[in-house]
Amino acid sequence: MTGPDSPRTGPVRTPAPVPPPDDVAGRRLVPGLSRRRALQLGGLGLLGVAIGAPGWRPSAGLALAAAEFLSEPETLHSENGLLRVRLEVAETSVTLGGRPAHMLTYNGTVPGPTLRLRPGDRLQVELVNRLSDPTNLHTHGLHVSPKGNADNTLDVHVQPGESFQYDIQLPDDHPPGPFWYHPHEHHLTADQIWSGLYGGIVVEDAGPEVPVTRDRVLVVSDTTLDDAGHPVHVSERERMKGREGRLVLVNGQLTPTIEARPGERERWRIINTCTSRFLKLRLDGHQLDLLATDIGRLAEPRRVEEVEVLNSGRVDVLVTVGEQTGELQGLANPRTRGDDGPSGAPGALATLQVSGSPVPALPPVPAYPQLPDLRGVEPAARRTMVLGLDRSGGGHEDHAGGHGTGGMVMTIDGRPFDHARTDVVTRLGTVEEWTYVNHTGMDHPMHLHVWPMQVVAVDGRPVEGVVYQDVVRVSAGGETTVRIPFEDFDGRTVHHCHINDHEDAGMMAVVEARTG
Ligand code: C2O
Ligand code: CU
Ligand code: CU
Repeated sequence: MTGPDSPRTGPVRTPAPVPPPDDVAGRRLVPGLSRRRALQLGGLGLLGVAIGAPGWRPSAGLALAAAEFLSEPETLHSENGLLRVRLEVAETSVTLGGRPAHMLTYNGTVPGPTLRLRPGDRLQVELVNRLSDPTNLHTHGLHVSPKGNADNTLDVHVQPGESFQYDIQLPDDHPPGPFWYHPHEHHLTADQIWSGLYGGIVVEDAGPEVPVTRDRVLVVSDTTLDDAGHPVHVSERERMKGREGRLVLVNGQLTPTIEARPGERERWRIINTCTSRFLKLRLDGHQLDLLATDIGRLAEPRRVEEVEVLNSGRVDVLVTVGEQTGELQGLANPRTRGDDGPSGAPGALATLQVSGSPVPALPPVPAYPQLPDLRGVEPAARRTMVLGLDRSGGGHEDHAGGHGTGGMVMTIDGRPFDHARTDVVTRLGTVEEWTYVNHTGMDHPMHLHVWPMQVVAVDGRPVEGVVYQDVVRVSAGGETTVRIPFEDFDGRTVHHCHINDHEDAGMMAVVEARTG
């Protein structure tokens, strides 16, 4: 990252356009796209793509941006069970949503590179911090150890100018699915994600392959840029509610175009990295079949009209392309009581442009082994976790409560986060039932590291089927019950609200799983 190509001074990086479908039918898109090629395409990309796009005029900046084809960040694959990556965190000039921006980046791009792993792989990441603040790395949703130099968000803090070597071993039976990585530095998490620090992780299927024409990663994020292209600082009131950005992007692009032929089946791994925004997605005129929520691969795909993706959540969906061009629509998904709150409809997130002759239907999707249904297991413990707000935050100076939220402290069981305190101790080899009870006027998406959660009841109503998520909605004034298999990994880690502003304001607690 030095010399004339240094991201601070070098050319603005434009994501490479994805070639049209005829080029790529039947194989994976990403492996052939080298970094060099991406940069070459980047130089010519905008013009090359815009020519021939409907409605393009040389002076129409917005039309130009809207005509971009969906690109994907660089994809890094494991080889022989190992993926070794160096991730350099730095402030970089990039193109975001079609305009120049100054973002925090992993290896110079927003999103950072996509990491593709297989069950049983080892992931080694050297995290290099070129920021003026500390940062660290969390592999969100992976069922891996929280100790030592693995997914250790409590003890590892990488100071400016320093680096850290992570070493993360996936178990052989790690469930497949879309995951992601992001910083987890308390009080800075919301600001760092808002500024561009996120990237996708895919754990490939272990079983028979799902026949698809294309396999794509769609990283959705939001931010608001000021006139100079810097992510804006948000007010304390916005932190209270959970900030939402005016730009809602897919792979760093504003309403990119995805080209496909009628009858093709694409697999989209949609990752909601927004700091607060809940998504509800629709794709009229095309068939959507849900393969997985978070780590929760379904035994059979399930036909859906709409799909909700809480912030930090993911879905793995099959899109069977219809006859007509359509739009991936973001609908309103309110997360506060009353309707004065945020989460208005972001509108079109991407265009699915249909052209060419129809292709023959692909073979059916093979069944996948069902994840264990914990509803028949007697929990070793039943716990209640109360989500609250403490407006008298001024009395909590010694633990930096109310940081950035005007003295407002957000709590679990009446206490704001304290990294030194262990709030819950569990035994490995047991299943626990936790009920999150929400005493506030806002919904909170609650997330647990390391161990997945089976959602069993929402506001007293039982959930049908086997639904695993690692982030669950706890509605304003409502409650959500989950069952958690504490398996495989001992150690201390956290559960928290994934509205990152609430997490930074204290709505986080320490969980320790012990052996024996
Ligand atoms: Cu996305 Cu504590 O994590
Ligand atoms: Cu996480
Ligand atoms: Cu919250």
